[in-house]
Amino acid sequence: MSSLSGKRILLGISGGIAAYKTPELVRRLRDAGATVRVVMTHAATTFITPLTLQATSGNPVHTELLDHTAEAGMGHIELSRWPDAVLIAPATANRMARLAVGLADDLLSTLCLALAEGVPLCLAPAMNHRMWSAPATMHNRDTLLARGVHLFGPTNGPQACGEVGLGRMEEPQHLVEDLARLFVRPWLAGQSLLITAGPTREALDPVRFLSNRSSGKMGYALAAAAAAMGAQVTLVTGPTSLPTPPNVRRIDVVSAQEMLGAVLDHIRDCGIFIACAAVADYRPVVTAPHKIKKQGENTMALVLERTEDIVATVSALPQRPFVVGFAAETEQLEANALKKLHNKGLDMVVANWVGGEIGFESDDNALQIYWAGGQKILARARKSALAYTLLELIAARLNPGLHPGLTSGHIPTPAPTGATA
Ligand code: PMT
Repeated sequence: MSSLSGKRILLGISGGIAAYKTPELVRRLRDAGATVRVVMTHAATTFITPLTLQATSGNPVHTELLDHTAEAGMGHIELSRWPDAVLIAPATANRMARLAVGLADDLLSTLCLALAEGVPLCLAPAMNHRMWSAPATMHNRDTLLARGVHLFGPTNGPQACGEVGLGRMEEPQHLVEDLARLFVRPWLAGQSLLITAGPTREALDPVRFLSNRSSGKMGYALAAAAAAMGAQVTLVTGPTSLPTPPNVRRIDVVSAQEMLGAVLDHIRDCGIFIACAAVADYRPVVTAPHKIKKQGENTMALVLERTEDIVATVSALPQRPFVVGFAAETEQLEANALKKLHNKGLDMVVANWVGGEIGFESDDNALQIYWAGGQKILARARKSALAYTLLELIAARLNPGLHPGLTSGHIPTPAPTGATA
């Protein structure tokens, strides 16, 4: 369930080449459950026809300031009363300048002036990178930011003019996610969450270790989303190159043993534990004190021992939080995930395929979530977006009154007890 579900989004399109992406943007907004109405500037209609936007939005497209068909001939006022948010995409340098100055010489700028207090105005800038970095545009950007306008992008990359730089419009799916974040509900307010993320490293000698491909992106996305949803978040992380999300307390660890220690140190008073880290299952029995030298033989055997199972340890605590484990699988996703749900004593297991193009390292993932008596499948999306949906689901499991229906859906008979997966 997206936070955009049921929201009224007014999409303003100004005259830039990125306007060709707006039918997809409209489609994705509607897929997220929003109702969309479109206002185009005259310049925008030279890049893409109003008919295309009418067909994709399912609503008439507005282009004229003085609209004879609108009530009392004041279409801009009617339109300004309608939306829950306004998104202007693409927002050209000219459009930003008009908004910064407060011009009211076309429908889009006029309705932005007339917008009710509290209705977010969001811009997705798109222009040549020199135009973006020009002092006048920077000044307008700062003026708009100081007024509380939200800026989504621009991003870096090849531009329509053939140059490369900062000035590309954010991709439609990312704009939808940015917009959705504005409507996130504080469903985790008052909750304390402990999340593990990233890989662990098990030392062989002072310079070598056993590890895996986890980048930490999924766990960090969960930490960022949980903090945005009002929770107090502690992130116990293996080595990654990611910045700490805002309002998140971060504890860096290296090995599985250190991760277990940090988790046990901070688990008290936590209502929710999410084990997203890719913890090594085995570590070398002996860590050599000096760099291991090549031997005469062509092969070399490592003797490994099991690491502590962190999530199972937390599940077994006498005063345990709501425990969510992940299952990273390359085969039999559902069966293996259900085994982990059972064998590790989880309240919920989040299964993802790994070894392909999503899962480890990628910005995207796809999740199959199971709990006793229910399941939810979340199709491929950015980890940052999936994190919100997963946390909403967890919040709804803890408090079914929050969102009846979110946690409905039955699963087959739980897997029988078997070998630890
Ligand atoms: O970090 P990214 O690049 O964004 O990739 C995300 C991810 C693929 C790592 C993530 O989505 C994920 O699947 N994390 C769990 C990886 C994993 O170790 O899965 P597993 O099936 O081997 O372990 C099952 C569960 O037991 C996990 O919750 C794991 O954290 C936990 N575990 C495992 C071993 C151990 N010694 N202690 C544990 O707590």
